[in-house]
Amino acid sequence: MLVPNNQHKKKKTGLIIGTTSLLAIALAGGVVYYTAVVDEPTEETITQSSQQQKQQIEEPVQSITPIEPVVEAPPLEKVDATKYDETKELPTEPTYINGILIANKQYPLPSTYAPDTDPTAQAALDTMVAAAAKENIQLVGFSGYRSYDYQTTLYNNYVARDGQEEADRYSARPGYSEHQTGLAFDIGEVGKEDLWLTAAFGETPAGQWLVQHAPTYGFILRYPKGKEHLTGFMYESWHFRYVGVEHALKIAEQNITLEEYLGVYEGKEVIVPQVAEEAPQENGSTVEQSEVTTTEGTQVGAKSEHNNP
Ligand code: DAL
Ligand code: ZN
Repeated sequence: MLVPNNQHKKKKTGLIIGTTSLLAIALAGGVVYYTAVVDEPTEETITQSSQQQKQQIEEPVQSITPIEPVVEAPPLEKVDATKYDETKELPTEPTYINGILIANKQYPLPSTYAPDTDPTAQAALDTMVAAAAKENIQLVGFSGYRSYDYQTTLYNNYVARDGQEEADRYSARPGYSEHQTGLAFDIGEVGKEDLWLTAAFGETPAGQWLVQHAPTYGFILRYPKGKEHLTGFMYESWHFRYVGVEHALKIAEQNITLEEYLGVYEGKEVIVPQVAEEAPQENGSTVEQSEVTTTEGTQVGAKSEHNNP
């Protein structure tokens, strides 16, 4: 039997609607199920998720490096290189650092240490004086090796003249003088004795020649300007110390003191005392004459301002 065409269409439409409705119901059911069953946290999922949260909270704590308690570095030992340790006795042996003999307010010498003038240092001085003479600069080493006893006399004289505080800035106490090592010389210009042991010598062509050329012969200007807090003594334009050519050139090149070169204050805090760098002769009284020592003995300097060894 033939079904009319419109009846067939109706049947088809009803089928589509029916199928679509079924699909819609199934979809809605699925959503409801998901919302109700899948999405809704069960007791188990609550427990799991709270554990996860706990882990999330705890994990960063585990990964953070524990904070070390702040431990402050112990304060550096303070050292005032210009002061003597009055409680210390003189040592029984001199101090060598990296093969270099050191004598200053912190590193004294035994009172019995009496090496006399070092022949190598004397030879280097002679060579240097000869080299300067070729350039018409007549240098002389007027004070070299001094015994412990001679330094005692000198120091006491300066204390009597200027008082101990002032004398301590330019004259070493017995046992603390580099002159006792036989490696140091006070150098001046022949015929310019009035400038011996004065800061002004450093401004003369002879003084300048010395600063420039001394390292070539193994000498260093031992007490440079502005370094009293390191060397312990005020500027001495005339005091040269033999350390050998290699060391002298390095020290001069780096423009450092022997103390810095030897690293004697490494790991310590060096106090910079509030003292005027000026020499007493520039702001104090003057003297008519002053005795200066020579390698031969004692010599009377010309009428001058203070001349401090
Ligand atoms: N003038 C130097 C510091 C000494 O007396 O040795
Ligand atoms: Zn000297």
